[in-house]
Amino acid sequence: MLEGKNVNLRVMEKEDLPLFADWVNTPEFFGEYNPLRQTSKTEIEKGYEKNSLELGEFIIEKKDGSKIGYICHFTLVHPVGKLLEIGYSLVPNERGKGNGTEAVEIMVDYLFLSKDIMRIQACTDTRNHASQKALEKTGFKKEGTMRKYLFLRGELRDAYSYSILREEWKEPKILTKTP
Ligand SMILES: CC(C)(COP(=O)(O)OP(=O)(O)OC[C@H]1O[C@@H](n2cnc3c(N)ncnc32)[C@H](O)[C@@H]1OP(=O)(O)O)[C@@H](O)C(=O)NCCC(=O)NCCS
Repeated sequence: MLEGKNVNLRVMEKEDLPLFADWVNTPEFFGEYNPLRQTSKTEIEKGYEKNSLELGEFIIEKKDGSKIGYICHFTLVHPVGKLLEIGYSLVPNERGKGNGTEAVEIMVDYLFLSKDIMRIQACTDTRNHASQKALEKTGFKKEGTMRKYLFLRGELRDAYSYSILREEWKEPKILTKTP
C-alpha cells in the first residue's frame, strides 16, 4: 500500500475486477475526455491475466477504505527509452477535491523511487483542464500538442503531451517516509 495524506494507492487485485468492470462500463467514470468503452467482465479478466502493456494497476482508496478511482502506469507499445506513461480516473463525486492530484503525486514518487526510468509521461485532451492542472501541480511540463491523437465521441481530438523528468522530480513529495 502506498500511503498518501488523503488517499492511498493499493495494487489492483482480481477481487477488484467486478468493481473495475462496473466503472469501465459506466461512461461517466472515464468521462468525456477518454474513449467510450464497453468491455465484458470476461474480457477484463483476460486482459488482467495477459497484461500485454505491462500495466501496473492501482485502486485509489480513501483513508476509510472506500474505493474512489483507478490509476495505472504502462509501457508504450513500442518503447524507445526509459519511460512509463500514466493514466487515471476518479468516480465523479470524488473529483475536484484534490484526490486526483494526490494520486498522481503518489504514483510519480513510486515510479521514480522504484523503476530505473528517466521520464514519466501523460497525455490529455486539450479541453481536459482538471487533468492538465493535476499534472502541472505535480511538476509535469507541457511539451506540445499531438494533433488528432484521440478518437473521442466520433471525432479525432488534439491532445497535449506532458512529462516530468527524474531531474525535475528531485525527491519524493508524498512517499517521504517509505522505507
Ligand atoms: C482528471 C482528474 C483525475 C483530476 O482529479 P481531481 O481530483 O478532479 O482534480 P483535483 O481536485 O486534484 O484538481 C486539480 C486542479 O484542477 C482544478 N480543477 C478540478 N476540476 C476542474 C475542472 N472541471 N475544470 C477546471 N479545473 C478543474 C482544481 O481546481 C485544481 O486546481 P487548483 O488546485 O489550482 O484549484 C479527475 O477530474 C477525473 O477523474 N476526471 C475524469 C477522468 C479523466 O479525465 N481522466 C484523465 C484523462 S487524461
